Amino acid sequence: MQKRSPLIYPSILSGDFGHLSDEATRIEQAGADAIHIDIMDGHFVPNLTLGPKAVAAINRSTNLFLDVHIMIYNPYDFVEALVASGADRITFHFEATEDVEETIGFIHKCGIQAGVAFRPETSFEMVPKYLHKCDLILLMTVNPGFGGQAFMPEVLEKVKLAREYCQRHKLETKIQVDGGINAETGKECVKAGADVLVSGDFLFKKAGDLAKGIAVLKGV
Ligand code: DX5
Ligand code: ZN
Repeated sequence: MQKRSPLIYPSILSGDFGHLSDEATRIEQAGADAIHIDIMDGHFVPNLTLGPKAVAAINRSTNLFLDVHIMIYNPYDFVEALVASGADRITFHFEATEDVEETIGFIHKCGIQAGVAFRPETSFEMVPKYLHKCDLILLMTVNPGFGGQAFMPEVLEKVKLAREYCQRHKLETKIQVDGGINAETGKECVKAGADVLVSGDFLFKKAGDLAKGIAVLKGV
């Protein structure tokens, strides 16, 4: 596989929720390519996080691209509110709706990018169809729900298959990984063909300094 420099999206889930606006500014100043915002509903995943009002607050504090990852059932129902809040891309879960194509179509109709996310256990066979229709696929490298979990190396095979598929079909669809990404696992993902690395725990708690951590991940 050809080596390329990945885009780095810090996950604000690992930031300080008491100072979301400051965190957004700090992420921008540290040289990130976008801010990854995790939205959870307590049903699709066993956790609750942020909603459209928090996305709007983050949007007021930064010019960065807002990459909104929604881990909720009935994602279609929240598209309009999130677009109004400033989301630049909404990535929803394949496993969370029977209306994957309708939801992609609606997100596009609202004028922003659409991504489809896949849990680690979801087979690669489900992926190719959507590579033709969305702007990004997110191959989760942990079970969604919490930051700070261990990377699941078995997902690397799916990343490779997705990269091969995109090359074969000349698709520009971005391949994103999320969960347990640090210098070592990030390197493995880029080698397998990932374009976009999401990172929370490593960047906010392990790297010591956000800008330094971003630079480390850029150079993997
Ligand atoms: C997990 C979220 C992730 C999370 C990643 O469900 O989707 O975006 O913030 O955090 P780390 O890098 O700590 O695994
Ligand atoms: Zn995420």
